Formats: sequence, C-alpha cells, structure tokens
Amino acid sequence: MNAVARISAAAGVERIGLRRAVVIGAGSMGGGIAAQLANAGIAVDLLDVPGSDPASRNDPAQKGVERQLKVGGFMTPAAAGLVRPGNIADDMPRLAEADWIVEAIVEEVGAKRALYRQIDAVRKKGSLVSSNTSTILREALLDGMPREFASDFVITHFFNPPRVMQLVEIVSGDENPAAIIGTARDYCETALGKTTVDCRDTPGFIANRIGCYALAVAAIEAIRQGVSVEEADAVMMALGAPRTGVFGVLDLIGLDLIPHVWGSLMSALPGADDLQNFDLPGTKLVQDLLAAGRLGRKSGEGFYRLTPQKTKQALDLATQDYRDARPFDLRQLPGDGKDLAALLESDERLGRYAWTVFANLVGYVDRIADDISLDRSDIDRAMILGYGWSQGPVALARRYDGARLAARFTAEGRALPARLLETAPVRAGRGTTAPALSIASLREQDKAVVENEAASLWDMGEGIACLQLHTKLNSFAPAVFSVLEASLEHVRSSFSGLVLGNDDPRAFSAGADLRAFLGMIERKDWVALDAYIEEGQDLFLRMKYAPFPVVAAAHGLALGGGCEFMLHCDAIVAHAELNAGLPETKVGIIPGWGGGTQLLRRAALNPSVPRGPAANAAAVFDVIWRAAVSTSALDARGLGMLLPTDRIVMNRSHLLGAARSFAMELARDYVAPERTSIAVAGRSGYLSLTNSVRASRNLGQISDADVAIAEALAGALTGGDTAAAHLDETQIMTLERKACVGLAKLPATAARIEHMLKTGKPLRN
Ligand code: NAI
Repeated sequence: MNAVARISAAAGVERIGLRRAVVIGAGSMGGGIAAQLANAGIAVDLLDVPGSDPASRNDPAQKGVERQLKVGGFMTPAAAGLVRPGNIADDMPRLAEADWIVEAIVEEVGAKRALYRQIDAVRKKGSLVSSNTSTILREALLDGMPREFASDFVITHFFNPPRVMQLVEIVSGDENPAAIIGTARDYCETALGKTTVDCRDTPGFIANRIGCYALAVAAIEAIRQGVSVEEADAVMMALGAPRTGVFGVLDLIGLDLIPHVWGSLMSALPGADDLQNFDLPGTKLVQDLLAAGRLGRKSGEGFYRLTPQKTKQALDLATQDYRDARPFDLRQLPGDGKDLAALLESDERLGRYAWTVFANLVGYVDRIADDISLDRSDIDRAMILGYGWSQGPVALARRYDGARLAARFTAEGRALPARLLETAPVRAGRGTTAPALSIASLREQDKAVVENEAASLWDMGEGIACLQLHTKLNSFAPAVFSVLEASLEHVRSSFSGLVLGNDDPRAFSAGADLRAFLGMIERKDWVALDAYIEEGQDLFLRMKYAPFPVVAAAHGLALGGGCEFMLHCDAIVAHAELNAGLPETKVGIIPGWGGGTQLLRRAALNPSVPRGPAANAAAVFDVIWRAAVSTSALDARGLGMLLPTDRIVMNRSHLLGAARSFAMELARDYVAPERTSIAVAGRSGYLSLTNSVRASRNLGQISDADVAIAEALAGALTGGDTAAAHLDETQIMTLERKACVGLAKLPATAARIEHMLKTGKPLRN
C-alpha cells in the first residue's frame, strides 16, 4: 500500500466538498498551508516559479515540500505524498480541477494581480480563490479583475507556522455571496482545523493592527519611562501578553522585520492614526541595533542574548550595553501581577508604565473597533489565537472597574472607550457558525447525570452520554473509578452510547495518578497496588464489553492510563494533534491497565501491519519499550494505536460532536465485541525480543533495571513461558499486572517515579 493511499480524508472533509486544492507560492506560508491540507488527507498541487534548470523545473516547489518535512509541517512524512510539486509555467491547467486555489506568493500587489489573471483563465467556475496577503487590501488586490472573479475571492490570512497557529482572518467583500464566505470558513475550519475571524478590509486586518500597535507602545514607553526590558516584559504579561512580553517577542520576530512590518502598516494607515505617534522603526534604539546587526534570536543578540556560558543577558535600553538579565517575577509587580486594578493604580514606576500602555491600547482599540471588525468578540479571539495573548483588549478593558476607568480617562483628557465597555456586540459577523458541542454548553444546560470531584457523566443529547474526567490533566485519581462504574450502569439503563472526552485544551488524560502509585510503593502495600491495577483493568474491560458503543474523543495528551482508557473503546475519534503513548517504562514499570494487550489486539485487527504473533509482539514491544508518544493522530495510526476505522478530525472544537455522531452510528445495530483470544509468540518470541536488549546491556548502553523492564514487558506480550498458541485477553492482562507489580518492587522504580514527579524528566539508573 503506498503512502498516499494510507491517508484518507479527515472526518467532515467530504461533506464540505473539498477534494483538490492548489497552493501557489511554496515559501514558508504556502508550503505550510499545503502541508496542512495534506494532513487533512486532501490532494494538493503546490506550484512555484519554474526552476532555472530545465531538467528540474519543479525544484522551487519541491524545496518547499522538503522544508515542511524539516520544520514539522507534515503530521507524518507520508502526508508529503499527497503534495504534487509543480510550476506556474507548465502546470496552470491543474487549476481546472481545484476546488480551492490559495495564493501565497511574494507580498507584491503587481505580482499577485498578474497571477490572478492567469488563475482566472484556467480555474473552474465557482472555485474559491484566496490570498494569504498580510498587508494588501482586498480591494487593491482585485483592482481590474472581473466581478465574477471578485465574487469568488476572499483573503484567508494564516499565521506562521500554519500547522500550529490557530487563527485565520477572513476578509470578504460585499460582492461575495454568503455561500462562498461559508465555503471559505468551512475549508479553513473543517479541513484545516483553524478558527476563523471575520475582518474588515483595513490595513493589518485585526491581529497585526492591534499587535503591532501594542508592541510599539510598550517598547517606546519603556524607553521613555526608563523601564528595563525584563520589567516591560513582565508588565505586558500581566496585561495578557505571552511570556515573551514585548522585547522577547521583538527578538523572536527579528528586528530586521521591524522597518518592513511596522513601516508598511504605518504607510498604509492615515496620518491621524495613533500608530504614527509610536514610530517603532524610527526610534534611535531600533536603528542603532539594526546598524550593529543585532537582529534578535536569528543573529544571536537583540534585546536579550545568551553568553557563551549560556547565561542570559539583557540590553540596557539607555546605554545599549548588555548586563546580566535580572529574572523578574510577576509577583514583584504591584498587585502580584494578578490584581489589575492594583497594578494600574499604583503610583510606582511600573504601575505608571502599565497604565500608559493599558490606556493607549484600550483607547486605540476602542477607536478602531468598528473599522476593523464586524463583531467585537472577534477582536479578543484574534489576539488570543494570533498573538498568544491570554486575554484580548476588550476583556482587558472590562476587567478594570468601569467607573474608575472612566474617571481616569476623563481626568487625562482621553476619550472614553465606550464601545469596548458596552456589553452587547453591535453587529453580528457574516453568518456565524453554530456553536460546537462542548462540556461548557452541557454544564450551562445543567446536563450532569452523575458527578463527583474527579469526573462527571453528561447527557450529550441524541441518546449519548459523555464521561468527562476533570482532575489535574484529567488523570485517574481513585475517585474517577466510582463515576466510571456508575456511568456504565447509567448508560446501560438510559442511553444508547458513551463518549469519553472533555473541553480541556491540553489533555484527554495524562494517565494514572503517579503520586498515589508511589504512595503504595513507599508503604510497600503490594496488595493495594495490585488491587488498584486490577480495578482499572476490570472497569476498562467492563466498558469494552458493555452492551453499548464507547467512543473516545481523544486529543492532546493521552498517556499511560489515559491511552489505555482510549484503547479499550470500540472506536476513537482523534483530534489531529494527538500525543498518545504508553511511556510507563520511563518510570520503571510497564502498562498495567491492558495497554500492551489492547495494542496486540489492535495489531491483529489491523490490515496494514504484519499478522503473525511474533511480528505483532515485536511491533508492540517496540512502541512500549521506546516509550513512543505520537506527534499527531496520523503518527498514532502508524504506531498501531488508531485503526483505519478510527477517525481523525482537524478541528478541536468539532471533536465531541464528531464522537457523538460516531457513537450514534455504532449504536444503530450495536453488538458488543466477542471475547476472542489473542495469538501469542511464546518462548521463542520472548527470546527474540530480549536478545537485542541483553546485547545492549553487554555493550553498557542500558542498566540492569532496564533489562528487568524489557524482560517483564516481553514476557507479558508473548505469553512468557506458555506453550499455548492463544491466550485469553484477561490472561495476558494478568501477566501485565503481575509484571507491573513485580517491577514496582524494585528500588530503581521508586527512584525513577520520584525523579519524574520532581523534575518531569526520566532518571537513568
Ligand atoms: P516567501 O518569500 O517565503 O515565499 C514566497 C514564495 O512565492 C517563494 O517561494 C517564491 O519563489 C514564490 N513566488 C514569487 N512569485 C511567484 C509567482 N508569481 N508565482 C509563483 N510563485 C511565486 O513568503 P512567505 O513568507 O511564505 O509569504 C507568502 C505570503 O504570505 C505573502 O503574501 C506574505 O505577506 C504572507 N504572510 C506571511 C507570513 C509570514 O510570517 N511569513 C504570515 C502571514 C502571511
């Protein structure tokens, strides 16, 4: 089976009718967008200019694919097989088959317009054409283009890198029918997994307009007010910016881009726009740094630098000399960095600085809000998703007491930010999408069926229930089990299917409660430890063989026990960004809740992996022994955790809805799986798995403790000394449980768990 055939379209993509796409411009953005299309299983042509060598005219586009393979744009290398490189001289006829044509070439209006004329000559009628421009207005791009082209043309402004950044700004015009705007939104959201925000056709759209202004004000006021780079970064963090604050972020962007990015925005904005009063490229400091080649991280020094001894230094903004960085704790700020009013009202230097940045930002956003957005909530969404802010300027303004804000603005002669403070949005966006199914919405409707402090069962509607864990990283604290047990009864009596999932952006479940596990080891309470593992096994198996379908809505971290929970389901709907794995060996044990057994069973069911028991055991051994954690759902499929029948969704907020639909489909004629036995490799399989481990020990590459783990794992996965060709699932799980408890008794294991809990890193002992 070839690589292309293995990546099928992500769930929902067929419904929106996106079969083929063309991306023109294979630079960092075009290559990244093409990679994300391929990640969703969509065939894509990536075209660039023809290469100078007649024998390799697709070289520039091919290089774009290779760059994405290097920077992690593809969720699995096999996805690159869906990208067909080409060039605009030879391959424009391919556009006739495309449903979506994305332009991501150089930021030059003339080049873009010339390309649009070529596109219009060959594209199929009604195909969506979009530009990734970051600075050129839609109106300017369309100058001289026929109306029919304009009606199918929008701006889809992605952020860098396209796989990672969540935001896509969409700029449409009055001549766009609602259907084409809906198509653009569907393509970006369902196929590429992004969140779209409607913007008006103004310079910098929303995120760059506000982001550039905020950074310019924060940097220039820091210079004016004698605030250090560390202090300014901390104040900006307290106002909602990410850890990089203001100067850290400028280092990251690269100071050489300041004249280009801020300069082009300033020249596109009217003279009266307040950004003109904060001329970042014109400051002496920025010009001196550029002249000295201090460009930020790319040149090794900017506002911060690392010494050859790897200590951090910061630039003194007044003298332009470096000095040792002074780590600044947010708690040193007035109000501990948490109490916004205390910070803004403090008469200390940093309080005054915070107020200046806050008042300018809030005043500016209030003045431009209706020019740049259709709905004010989009402003905050754009800043959170495009700039990584923890809150946007609208929420920031509302976090401070309205009466005190008004009094101070009036006293300083500033116009009141009335638009930001009024609660109801003025206008709705262009055809808003239905809100996604979420635990938050179920909570609002009071849909809890059963709950305790660790987990809740929700009525999702349509006869399906959802079990949500809500402990730290949704790990299996002992209290989870009682809700799981009660849930199995509730679903059996009152529902037709069960979904496992949550709204947490980070984790499906990070696994067993390692602290509770260590407690039992320290007390040498082997009976309790054995019972804890057995209880988990028993409940997971009862869930697996229940008379209703169970679907895992897996996303983010699904580790250890969390991964085993997922592997016991009838089906998995995974978010594309899934980090699933069984990393127990890193803390000296092996998976105890049936992880190995279920991987063996999945290997036996999987038509794309070897079917013999020895080969299956070797594949599963490799995954667990290496503590492999998937880098995506496609990668999890390669590791044997997801079967071809499991589904992948690109958009995290569609996950619970897709899992519910899958559970409803399965519930229609559901028959619980039969308890089948699993073919095992026995003694010879055991020896072949452990031989190479012992060779590594002889070479001094691993320790005796590692050998013990490998032998325990190999024993469980092959049936150990058994002479039987097949073992029942519970027999293999008993081997896993015993091996896990045996390893827990070794002194090296307690040390490994303690070290992991303390440092988050594995201990080699
Ligand atoms: P880039 O310079 O990395 O790549 C541009 C590519 O377009 C090059 O491979 C070039 O050979 C190709 N090209 C130029 N003229 C062409 C033509 N007529 N036909 C076909 N290919 C042509 O640029 P990058 O950074 O990927 O930017 C592309 C677009 O995305 C620009 O409009 C830019 O403003 C926008 N953008 C860039 C972001 C970034 O962070 N780099 C973020 C958001 C938008």
